[in-house]
Amino acid sequence: MFTFCVSSHLLVWIFVNLYNGCAAKPNWEAIPLSITGTTTNPSAIDINLRIERISRSEFGFSGTFFWNIDMDDSVMVEMRILSSYSGDESDYKLTPMSIQPQKFTEYINTFYKDMLMPNLGNCTDLPVYENEFVPPWPKATFNFTRCALNGEGLPDILAGGFYKGEAIITAQPVEVTVAVVLRIRTKMF
Ligand SMILES: *[C@@H]1O[C@H](CO)[C@@H](O)[C@H](O)[C@H]1NC(C)=O
Ligand SMILES: *[C@@H]1O[C@H](CO)[C@@H](O)[C@H](O)[C@H]1NC(C)=O
Repeated sequence: MFTFCVSSHLLVWIFVNLYNGCAAKPNWEAIPLSITGTTTNPSAIDINLRIERISRSEFGFSGTFFWNIDMDDSVMVEMRILSSYSGDESDYKLTPMSIQPQKFTEYINTFYKDMLMPNLGNCTDLPVYENEFVPPWPKATFNFTRCALNGEGLPDILAGGFYKGEAIITAQPVEVTVAVVLRIRTKMF
């Protein structure tokens, strides 16, 4: 099965918003083109991630995620999913799969705990919560080593083209954007 890796744990959230639970084979394959993290304040949050090719059809990501702020209800996350047929920067349009800003702590108790951590497994030292998230979220540099994800959880049918997922974290001292760009190609059976 075609395996690909999208991004930091933040970006995986994006793709869960595409989840439709179908069991059929996808009609597409994804090629990750880039992953970038930008921060307005690297001493508060900093992200350094890169895409790595694991085999001909498998990709992963490696890098670090530095977290140095208190995780409270003021920390928000917004997800934007854009698509472009041509890949030209000016052609990207926001899709309805985008979601409005939500509290970061809500994600930890839902998607992060139930789907992200079981998928990432041992490629990262991000904290694991068996039960409800109990603060504090540690201030640390978290490591990712060739984290690979399979495409499960993504829609079976996607139009070909370029997709950009952006996770935007907003907190008091910092704004962070993690962006991943994928090229989606439809498969011939
Ligand atoms: C992850 O590491 C733990 C402890 O070293 C081990 O018990 C577990 O089987 C590992 N899980 C995977 C998926 O490799
Ligand atoms: C990440 O790796 C660095 C360097 O090996 C280490 O100091 C740090 O403790 C690791 N982070 C976690 C959360 O274990």
